Amino acid sequence: MTAIGTSALRSRVIAANWKMNHGPTAARAFMASFAARYAPLPDRDVLIFPPALSLAAAIAGAGERPPVGFGVQNVYWADKGAFTGESSAPMAKDAGADFVLVGHSERRHVFGETDGDTAKKCAAVERAGLTPLLCVGETLEERDRGTTEEVVLRQLRAGLAELDQREATTSILAYEPVWCIGTGRTATPEDASRIHAVIREGLRDLVGDRARDVRILYGGSVTPDNATSLLAAPEVDGLLVGGASLDVESWLSICTA
Ligand code: PGA
Repeated sequence: MTAIGTSALRSRVIAANWKMNHGPTAARAFMASFAARYAPLPDRDVLIFPPALSLAAAIAGAGERPPVGFGVQNVYWADKGAFTGESSAPMAKDAGADFVLVGHSERRHVFGETDGDTAKKCAAVERAGLTPLLCVGETLEERDRGTTEEVVLRQLRAGLAELDQREATTSILAYEPVWCIGTGRTATPEDASRIHAVIREGLRDLVGDRARDVRILYGGSVTPDNATSLLAAPEVDGLLVGGASLDVESWLSICTA
């Protein structure tokens, strides 16, 4: 795989967030089956975010030359210490991860992660030499109040606040409207394009013209049926997929959409 996470041409990123699914045995079997059948496409990077406990098994299952990159779904910002139950970015790197999801809506809304936490996590991820995939997105209530743009821009600025320009422009972003996650409701390609353009404008304020290099993924009830039209939408540089990434058939068809 070539220079994943550093593309200046915005090659696509198709990412699987397995959430708390697939233990080590299932992860190994999934990756063995996927790696045997997926012929890497030159215009896209495929990333897999298994549960941390399954990362080593997933990597082993993918074989000697994995056609994908691997990441973890969360880290704590300290490198080590008395933080029972947490894992750090250097540990994720040592375990074989190159990417870390930061600020996923379930971290924000189930576990109470704040904008300040996402800033510290992105900084810790960069310090360890990994690439953050920062997620932003509004709740249904925020959408109904007409504050979508304000919310995603606040989350964007906060998440990237401690990164320098190079780090910010090699990070990956995902727009995931909370009301679309696991609900079967999907933003239309037009909705996604509009908010992605807002995010890119916000990036321009932070990093100038290099904003055009940053990959912005869409996530929220992506399926094999809607993947092609979402990927064709202007400003949509890839997909972050939960439920539909858990089955090899469905994941293969999204990866080749
Ligand atoms: P979903 O999850 O595809 O199951 O809606 C997406 C995500 O939470 O990343």
